Amino acid sequence: ASPSARCPFHAATDPEIARAVADFDVFEGPFTVDPAAAMRLFRERRPIFFSPKLGYWVVSRYEDVKDVFRDTGTFSPANALEKVTPSSAEASAILASHDYAMNRTLVNEDEPAHMERRRALLHSFLPAELEKHAPMVRRLVARFVDRFVDRGEADLVDELLWEVPLTVALHFLGVPEDDMDVLRRYSIAHTVNTWGRPSPDQQVAVAEAVGNFWTYSGQVLDRMRLDPSGDGWMEYALRRQRELPDVVTDSYLHSMMMAGIVAAHETTAHATANALRLLLEDRKAWDEVCRDAALIPNAVEECLRLSGSIIAWRRVALKDVEIAGQPIAAGDRILVVMTSANHDGRHFENPDMLDIRRDNTTDHLSFGYGAHQCLGKNLARMEMRILLEELSRRLPHMRLAEQRFDYLPTISFRGPDHLRVVWDPARNPERADD
Ligand code: HEM
Repeated sequence: ASPSARCPFHAATDPEIARAVADFDVFEGPFTVDPAAAMRLFRERRPIFFSPKLGYWVVSRYEDVKDVFRDTGTFSPANALEKVTPSSAEASAILASHDYAMNRTLVNEDEPAHMERRRALLHSFLPAELEKHAPMVRRLVARFVDRFVDRGEADLVDELLWEVPLTVALHFLGVPEDDMDVLRRYSIAHTVNTWGRPSPDQQVAVAEAVGNFWTYSGQVLDRMRLDPSGDGWMEYALRRQRELPDVVTDSYLHSMMMAGIVAAHETTAHATANALRLLLEDRKAWDEVCRDAALIPNAVEECLRLSGSIIAWRRVALKDVEIAGQPIAAGDRILVVMTSANHDGRHFENPDMLDIRRDNTTDHLSFGYGAHQCLGKNLARMEMRILLEELSRRLPHMRLAEQRFDYLPTISFRGPDHLRVVWDPARNPERADD
């Protein structure tokens, strides 16, 4: 039987819910406008349902989402990087011509291999190690802000939020300066290729870029191998490979080189754009942050809760199991909607309200939860904190320009394509050349 036929609610269901389930679409309609609001009906009245359009069970309540993340023995992350829209024959041929072999990284690896690797490679993510990157992040942010601070208007996505996390990711991995520009060019938005609905033309263009990215990543890695003494995560991983060749394999290193950039770049860029949009739409919150920078870390968490950059993530059931009383069969695919969980009134009081002093906001699930919880979360938090510190100090009077916000429709990643702000440069508390 199809998963929907097994659903005990399916036959005798409320027509409003039956319609909402049938219409549920992550690429069109209400979910693309405001995913958390679009999930409200389900969160309240049908916490798990099978979406026929998507082919996944969709889970929406905080405790259920957390339970799925927690139990990696039952809910495998093996499908986390699967293409939502299968490759066209032409795109597949292009990738094959580059010997493209992106394999298991950390995020889609099952136990026990996953934990062994995660432990082997954890060192670069320890707070003391991450702190070493803070001056570089601040210098970088200052350099980009200098370029537009006296102008009076900017698109913060194009002129700051896209570039900073990409450059930080490349530094974090240990990519030499000379190679950064090439990798930067190839790392075009291929999230659309994995999590979105690319057109046939886009598929071909992205396949070319991904193929080149793959080949070049391998070359950078080969050069690093000659002298892996640097501070980057990849150099550290190459040194670990000498001690643990069966845990840190060549194929894994090659995949990680590419996946690391994807994991660190767009996630952080989108999350910061979402945070700035939320804060600037709530002038009182923004003004408070500008007056007292000590509020920024909790404000960052609250923005990640309300409008995280990864709104949903995937798992596949390894055995027959139940979620919220609903039987799920081995092999069924599951979409856990973290942005819905983060708006669940069972866990967060006044869940739709921005409260930068909320005391349990760090319980949000925007970084996932459990064994696979985002390894880079503290790097992302640091970047977001520094970006907000610099912008609130140098442009406290900026406001959102009149604009329509557009979001690329994907199953997982969410952030506005542009974020236009305006201000009066005569009121700047300091000048670019101070
Ligand atoms: C995994 C979100 C930034 C590296 C994940 C997962 C999510 C996530 C949802 C999957 C969690 C799970 O399956 O339970 C985010 C968000 C970010 C961000 C929202 C920015 C705001 C970063 C950065 C890095 C990074 C800056 C740095 C390199 C990773 C890695 C994993 C991961 C390596 C795999 C961990 C594992 O499976 O053990 N992230 N991430 N992420 N993230 Fe992030």
